[in-house]
Amino acid sequence: MKLKGKDLLGIEGLDREEIELLLSTAESFKEVSEREIKKVPTLRGKTIINLFYEPSTRTRTSFEIAAKRMSADAVNISVSTSSASKGETLRDTAMNLGAMRPDCIVVRHSSSGTPEMLSRYLSCPVVNAGDGAHEHPSQALLDMLTVRERKGAIEGLKVSIIGDIVHSRVARSNIYGFTKMGAEVTVAGPPTMLPVGIERLGCRATSSMEEAVRGADVIMMLRIQLERQSESFFPSAREYSRLYGLDETKLKNAKEGVIILHPGPINRGVEISPEVADGPYSVILDQVTNGVAVRMAIFYLLVGGAREEHHV
Ligand code: CP
Repeated sequence: MKLKGKDLLGIEGLDREEIELLLSTAESFKEVSEREIKKVPTLRGKTIINLFYEPSTRTRTSFEIAAKRMSADAVNISVSTSSASKGETLRDTAMNLGAMRPDCIVVRHSSSGTPEMLSRYLSCPVVNAGDGAHEHPSQALLDMLTVRERKGAIEGLKVSIIGDIVHSRVARSNIYGFTKMGAEVTVAGPPTMLPVGIERLGCRATSSMEEAVRGADVIMMLRIQLERQSESFFPSAREYSRLYGLDETKLKNAKEGVIILHPGPINRGVEISPEVADGPYSVILDQVTNGVAVRMAIFYLLVGGAREEHHV
């Protein structure tokens, strides 16, 4: 099994062994971020371009930090500073960036399939940092790493993903990831936010919040993605919160030792109450910490470097 030179377009295209490799490599990189000098020379001389056509706080920053902690040169391009705002096509953008010989391009875009399309014009690895409602593979990897760290293993866990499933690339990547790793995945949300046929991805679907919370080892709450909604999928934020928001009362039905994840950004008081988001079961900031290690592992495995080098 070798990931070097490959693209990371989604979790769907990875097998369990590849996911295990990414997670164990990320685990080994965690200590770099605890050092006083947070840098290893592994990717010295490599150039990584972060091409973000959508806003991002966590993903963009942690891809940049990951590249810098590995001594790669990181270049950030956002839509407002690129010639996309002057009408340049994605194909032309890809061909021009490729002509500068980068070693990896990380891309986020509102349209599903953009990273795959770019990869056809580029000879370096392309990493999907979130494309429309399709996939967000690095998010699912950091979620799996966080769960594995807290629970010891993923196999046999009951994982409930609750909220705006229909618009969520995080949900899709996590359904693929957690089922491949042997967890039992349930997705829950208002019927209007549960895509028809979602069970074909290997999960169970329910519109009962209570059912999703009861017995779950892991609860992942999702943000309502208003930016992807051209029509109303629920009567009001207050109504949504009453039925599908996770608060301390609903959490009373959860299994002992449950952990709460959220990919961020959080809509406090809508899908999750501040008391739960900041409470003792929340691992939300662990997810963010693990995001850097996961992205270091992605660069390491896709772009290069010998295994022995990375602890220098
Ligand atoms: N989880 C996530 O993708 O967050 P950002 O949109 O801030 O990158």
